[in-house]
Amino acid sequence: MALLSDSRPAVPTLRPATPADAALLHAWRSEPSVRRHQPLQAASLADLRADLARQHPGDLYRARGDRFQWIIEVDRVPVGWITLAITSWEQGVGELGYALTTEAQGRGLMVPALDRLLGLLFEQTLLDRLEARCSVDNEASRRVLERCGFHREGLLRGYFRLGDRRVDNHLYARLRSDP
Ligand SMILES: CC(C)(COP(=O)(O)OP(=O)(O)OC[C@H]1O[C@@H](n2cnc3c(N)ncnc32)[C@H](O)[C@@H]1OP(=O)(O)O)[C@@H](O)C(=O)NCCC(=O)NCCS
Repeated sequence: MALLSDSRPAVPTLRPATPADAALLHAWRSEPSVRRHQPLQAASLADLRADLARQHPGDLYRARGDRFQWIIEVDRVPVGWITLAITSWEQGVGELGYALTTEAQGRGLMVPALDRLLGLLFEQTLLDRLEARCSVDNEASRRVLERCGFHREGLLRGYFRLGDRRVDNHLYARLRSDP
């Protein structure tokens, strides 16, 4: 990816994902580095397209809908995604998940991308608490969450199965009222 190899600092931007992004997401989800620390459910291209077609970005601002996804871009080249799953609109709680394609990892892109989204969510929606979980082995993801102001709230023992073993997860959360 030429644009990521030049010397300028890369500035990630976000746009809502559309059904036309299904093929990209399908390809990214199959990359070993993307799957290394998270159990991504098997999903066909049609499943991903249908999931994206159900999402309505405008619902976010009306406290409706249960799933939203954004594509992270650098100079208009898609490099990853962030997902928001609403746990409860009534309680103002949601959960974030994210990934960068292999060649975009390790370049400091996720912190500014997530920061941007946190700003939008806390300024323009009724969400008060955003959670995120990561495998205890995923040091890069843990660093991203801490740099984005998330607090580690606990350890979720054997939270998911990855290959043939159960993996502990850190639970992180950031509140609207956090500095
Ligand atoms: C995890 C991920 C989101 C991190 O985003 P990123 O933009 O690549 O992260 P950065 O380049 O800013 O690195 C984050 C920090 O982790 C450190 N780091 C990176 N890889 C590391 C590793 N294998 N071990 C320890 N630290 C590591 C970096 O040095 C950096 O430290 P710093 O905050 O002190 O500068 C990204 O690599 C990714 O998408 N990975 C695959 C999918 C995934 O694991 N998603 C998260 C599921 S919870």
